[in-house]
Amino acid sequence: MRRLLPEPAADTDPYEAYEAEGPVLRIGMVMSADGSVTDAEGWTDGLGGEADFRVFRTLRALAGAILVGAGTIRTGRVGPARLRADLRERRGGPPAPIVVVSRSLDLDWSLPLFTEAETPTIVVTSRAARDRHAARIKDVEVLVAGEEDVDLPAAVRELQAGYPHLLCEGGPALATALIRDGLADELCLNIAPALLGGGPHHTRLLGELASEVPLEPAAVHLDEGVLFLRYRLRT
Ligand SMILES: NC(=O)c1ccc[n+]([C@@H]2O[C@H](COP(=O)([O-])OP(=O)(O)OC[C@H]3O[C@@H](n4cnc5c(N)ncnc54)[C@H](OP(=O)(O)O)[C@@H]3O)[C@@H](O)[C@H]2O)c1
Repeated sequence: MRRLLPEPAADTDPYEAYEAEGPVLRIGMVMSADGSVTDAEGWTDGLGGEADFRVFRTLRALAGAILVGAGTIRTGRVGPARLRADLRERRGGPPAPIVVVSRSLDLDWSLPLFTEAETPTIVVTSRAARDRHAARIKDVEVLVAGEEDVDLPAAVRELQAGYPHLLCEGGPALATALIRDGLADELCLNIAPALLGGGPHHTRLLGELASEVPLEPAAVHLDEGVLFLRYRLRT
């Protein structure tokens, strides 16, 4: 992985490139050069190739907990967090828990994500939704934040008390909500070297924001044609 900014360097270690000091909520996502976060199949695997996976795995290994929106879970393609032996050794422990954020709790509770995770998956929802679904989620670890609706700032506060380093892997709706609520500190945006154009499967990186959010570039890396941009959000 070649570092282009701040100081050019021919060969950098992704783990060192993405280490963060202190509490952070980082959004880590991949998109095509024209801004689609989904490939022709409506998923992400076709976007960044092995270089993107290396950084994806690294961001996971560095995180205390990994936030994912319920929409992404409904694709059925998010398995329990796993760690390769080398990353497990560097992390010094088991994988971070995946934290699913959902208002509706309309989820498939038989997914391995909920039944087979080495580090149990956590679900963030409102008290009302938790009570409505109490029987179906009795074996799931639930974090209640908010009464009738999910209180995202409260959820993040509560999570960061135990896991100061949070990674949000998207999707766009959850990432947008975190930015809109001023909760995100960093955007790690991986840009795949491809144009996908419009089409029914293509989804933009973000939804509507209340106002423009300025970004400060912190680092830029390049690996196998994928650009790895690390921005600080100046909210
Ligand atoms: N390229 C990438 O890096 C990347 C990463 C992840 C996903 N994706 C793609 O993105 C697509 C899914 O994205 P998406 O935007 O539809 O879904 P999403 O952001 O994964 O999930 C949206 C859902 O999350 C919950 N949610 C979001 N904001 C919330 C808030 N403020 N409070 C409470 N709950 C909240 C809601 O769940 P309920 O509906 O249960 O209430 C909402 O419907 C998939 O196609 C996936 O492949 C791409």
